[in-house]
Amino acid sequence: MNVRLNQFLDRIANQGVCITGTDTEVGKTWFAGSYAYILKQEGFPVSVFKAVQSGVADNQLTDAHILKVLSEDDAHVCEICPNSFQAPVAPVVAARREGRILHYESAIEQIRRRLSFGQPLLIEGAGGISVQLGDDFDLARIANFLKIPILIVARSSLGTVNHTVLTIEYARMKGLEVLGVVMNDQTREDPAFIIENINMIEQMTGVPVVAVMPYVQNKWEYREQLVQLYRQDGPVYEMGEVT
Ligand SMILES: Nc1ncnc2c1ncn2[C@@H]1O[C@H](COP(=O)(O)OP(=O)(O)OP(=O)(O)O)[C@@H](O)[C@H]1O
Ligand SMILES: [Mg+2]
Repeated sequence: MNVRLNQFLDRIANQGVCITGTDTEVGKTWFAGSYAYILKQEGFPVSVFKAVQSGVADNQLTDAHILKVLSEDDAHVCEICPNSFQAPVAPVVAARREGRILHYESAIEQIRRRLSFGQPLLIEGAGGISVQLGDDFDLARIANFLKIPILIVARSSLGTVNHTVLTIEYARMKGLEVLGVVMNDQTREDPAFIIENINMIEQMTGVPVVAVMPYVQNKWEYREQLVQLYRQDGPVYEMGEVT
């Protein structure tokens, strides 16, 4: 299909986007922070936001920290993610363990505050798309409220076609527009296998795979790679080559 991430520039620079994944730990934070950085470099500053994060431990970088450093956002980490819970479990469960409840109205208020700086938002979800962020809302409810589309970060490993197709179908069921899939090759898969999976996802869903991120050692390398990918033309991925 060969649709590239940079083809969404106008759209996302004006509206913002929600970034979800096929699962937890698929690379949403690294992608969201790096992509926000690129948009800023292109002259379209966006703000990063994450409604809720769990598994927050002392002396460990949170998603909010990583989003902040990658995107070079001036905001305080508590504005980037206003709701943090300690237990490394789903956000709603972690909140309950601390006797706290996060309601949709409060999350919308926090989003409004972030929007008051006049920049569209890149909003990272938590875990996969069906994860409840608070007692009465999920990422779909936020995306529908803001009327913004979503991007899906997916693994490159076996099982990704099933996870990605289900995520896209679920998003559609919730009335969301899926712009594209970013395939994150954390596990360094065989290039032929990656191409087969890209083709299957695109044929089954009509949604383009808009970038294939190679394995990298650290988040700065990720950001640099994404910048290079973003600026290139041609096919999104060719046998072993990110083009
Ligand atoms: N392209 C990559 N190459 C190598 N390692 C990667 C790559 N992308 C992500 N990682 C690794 O995967 C981990 C998870 O990435 P990230 O924190 O962005 O996932 P996430 O989807 O945001 O997770 P969560 O659901 O907890 O928010 C990172 O700490 C990093 O170690
Ligand atoms: Mg994350």
